[in-house]
Amino acid sequence: MCGIIGYKGKNNVIDVLISGLKKLEYRGYDSSGIALKGQGIQIIKSVGRISDLENKVNNTELIKTDMGIAHTRWATHGEVNEVNAHPHRVGKITLVHNGIIENAEELRNELTSKGVKFNSNTDTEVIAALIDSYYENSVEEAIEKAIHDLKGSYALGIICDDSDKLYAVRCQSPLILGVSDKGTFITSDIGAILKYTNKYSLLGENEIVTIDENGYKLEKDGQEIKREVMTSNLTEEDNDLHGYDHYMLKEIMEEPVLVNKLINKYANNLNALPDLSQYKNIHIIGCGSAYYAGMIAKNLFEDDGVKVECDVASEYRYRNIIYDDKTLVILISQSGETADTIAAMRKAMENNIDTLAIVNVDGSTIARETTYKVLIEAGREVAVATTKAYILQVLILSLLSYKLNPDDNYLSDLKKLPQQLNVLLDRTGYFKKLADQIYKRNDVFFIGRKIDYAICMEGSLKLKEVSYIHSDAYQAGELKHGTISLVEDGTVVFGIVTDDFIRDKTISNLEEAISRGAKPIYVGTEDSKYEDQIIVPKVHKKLQPLLVVPVLQIIAYYVALKRGCDIDKPKNLAKSVTVE
Ligand code: F6R
Repeated sequence: MCGIIGYKGKNNVIDVLISGLKKLEYRGYDSSGIALKGQGIQIIKSVGRISDLENKVNNTELIKTDMGIAHTRWATHGEVNEVNAHPHRVGKITLVHNGIIENAEELRNELTSKGVKFNSNTDTEVIAALIDSYYENSVEEAIEKAIHDLKGSYALGIICDDSDKLYAVRCQSPLILGVSDKGTFITSDIGAILKYTNKYSLLGENEIVTIDENGYKLEKDGQEIKREVMTSNLTEEDNDLHGYDHYMLKEIMEEPVLVNKLINKYANNLNALPDLSQYKNIHIIGCGSAYYAGMIAKNLFEDDGVKVECDVASEYRYRNIIYDDKTLVILISQSGETADTIAAMRKAMENNIDTLAIVNVDGSTIARETTYKVLIEAGREVAVATTKAYILQVLILSLLSYKLNPDDNYLSDLKKLPQQLNVLLDRTGYFKKLADQIYKRNDVFFIGRKIDYAICMEGSLKLKEVSYIHSDAYQAGELKHGTISLVEDGTVVFGIVTDDFIRDKTISNLEEAISRGAKPIYVGTEDSKYEDQIIVPKVHKKLQPLLVVPVLQIIAYYVALKRGCDIDKPKNLAKSVTVE
């Protein structure tokens, strides 16, 4: 987590750093800070949002500079306060860090015994102290020695009192180099520098970057490395709100167009998608919403006759997995940088197992390392809560399932989907009315069976993460094994009922909740007796979640709006979870 940016060049350094941090804010937003290098070093930090840092910077007399580093933090070591905010400075070394140093305590004790005094509780200050302890007259050499001692993940932007150069190095955490004729950038994400350049180079692990006014040099173990400069097809446009109040709403509203784009690409060209028929076992791995997209696919692939396991990456990476040579591991990740999902992928690959990544960010670690990949082409997703990426992940999984087990009605239903989605998302008035009924509740439950339960999990996560209302998803039959004791007068229970096979069973479970005072909201494909109901068009079962989940996303949005929540940046979260 955390976002870092650094720059040396002819553009206004403050503009580069602050506009970059605003784009990186999705990676964490507990505190932020910048360090400028001129005649001396000036550090400005602030707790809260980037706008708080910006105000502070605007009210400070700044040194003349052509170089700086900046950071937005998602706290891992140490509470949220200014002391723990980055940049950290020890001796002559000032740096920003994204990642986690696992042996920080050990290194801290060693350095303390040598007389180093620490101000913060962070692992980052330990790195600054370590580099400073090795520094004699070459910063590169000090960095080289220090990284040999570090265990864990890091992307570092480093400046030194004695040098006019900017230094960077990464291991596990993402960091790319931005290239332009007006200067050189380091950034956790290309999106942060698109205002200035779309040209970039990837950095390999433990390659040390040295940036001066003429450009950059890359070195590993003393050997110079040449790296290709690539062009991103993302534009500044992708970062605009286009008149919406929030990215979450904008991104939900983009779903019909993006779904249409993928349908046009694959519906008549299934050969462009991997063929799963050669695999006897499929393991589907992801975190959060990506895992819930995987749960949808588990239901689809099992109906296609394939043995499927679906697990969260943080568990899978530590479980004793029995592979055979007919196993495929599918990794689902919007960012392609989720630490646990990366670890799960590497575990499979170490066992010589094929991996297929369903990923949004091309050039991300997962996209680069996997055996096969399919890009979901969602464009940039800015809101921390995923919406459009989830839908496109499910669409790709649905197409893979169709390729595995084709049947007649799928393609005709597929082609109708974008228009049906448009019509559904247009029912704003009704979704707002439902939000009015929900926003004051303390608990909301979602119940469903089989694929409807997978839908419930995503609906529930969306609601709780953006509105902060406690919410849980249950297999409808499970509610009465304990949780029903929480149901009281007015508790909202969403009943998701799209699978005809178990429709009556779920309805009975909804009735059990109603008997205990629950207020039902029915979401289904057939008319019901319930006052509050959302009827979605009945489509092929491999496509049904694509019409139900957007409805739940938009209800979550309006509930959060009514509660005045910080919708695009819910508290305590970050978009890209690059730590375990
Ligand atoms: C929830 C959400 C998260 C992500 C999860 C995985 O709205 O966005 O649960 O789905 O952190 O992230 P990626 O897909 O980037 O691996």
